[in-house]
Amino acid sequence: MARVLVTAGPTRESLDPVRYLSNRSSGRMGFAIARALVRAGHEVVLVAGPVALRTPPEVERMDVESAEEMLQACRWAWPECDVLYAVAAVADYRPAERADHKLKRKAGEGRTIELVPNPDVVATLAADKEDRLVIGFALESENGEEEAQRKMKAKHLDFVVLNGPEAQGAKRTSLTLLGADGTRANFGPADKNRLARRLVEATLG
Ligand code: CTP
Repeated sequence: MARVLVTAGPTRESLDPVRYLSNRSSGRMGFAIARALVRAGHEVVLVAGPVALRTPPEVERMDVESAEEMLQACRWAWPECDVLYAVAAVADYRPAERADHKLKRKAGEGRTIELVPNPDVVATLAADKEDRLVIGFALESENGEEEAQRKMKAKHLDFVVLNGPEAQGAKRTSLTLLGADGTRANFGPADKNRLARRLVEATLG
């Protein structure tokens, strides 16, 4: 039995108290992985961005909003975990400034938003993984396998799960699991719960 940290869902990067930048992630795949892990007998700590999903039974959940909050929650949980499943669609950038009041419209004028890079949650945690297992996802629209292999090396992942943009928000999808040892497996099309069970079997045995 392992203690597994799972990240799931999108992040929200605030512009002002009412507006944010985000993406189309529903969190379904991350929650399905959490459910499959519990079913396989593992303990799960789930760090979730803003999603409209119920916490699976027996899962310890921490809700976060931004990438920085996600990193903070994960840093707190990681020392007690043996495995990281990084499923979240973390926003790569955030607005350089967050206004503390609602930004006002200026009639007839455009607006430029300056963005600064967010931390890479999985790469930060994998940097001191020692002998722990780290699994990441790669959402690619072109040159999928090449990009996924590149991310696996750059972020020190043991496995990378490759999927396409059509997976976002979908109930059914297909994916390819690539291992750092050169292994390769295709799963689906199937619903995300079934895919999650196959992934857990293939990565944690
Ligand atoms: N990831 C993360 N923190 C980030 C960005 C990504 O932890 N700031 C993780 C995701 O959870 C996923 C993996 O890194 O497991 C790859 O995410 P993806 O968005 O495909 O890759 P990026 O590194 O953001 O590259 P790009 O958007 O340029 O394809």
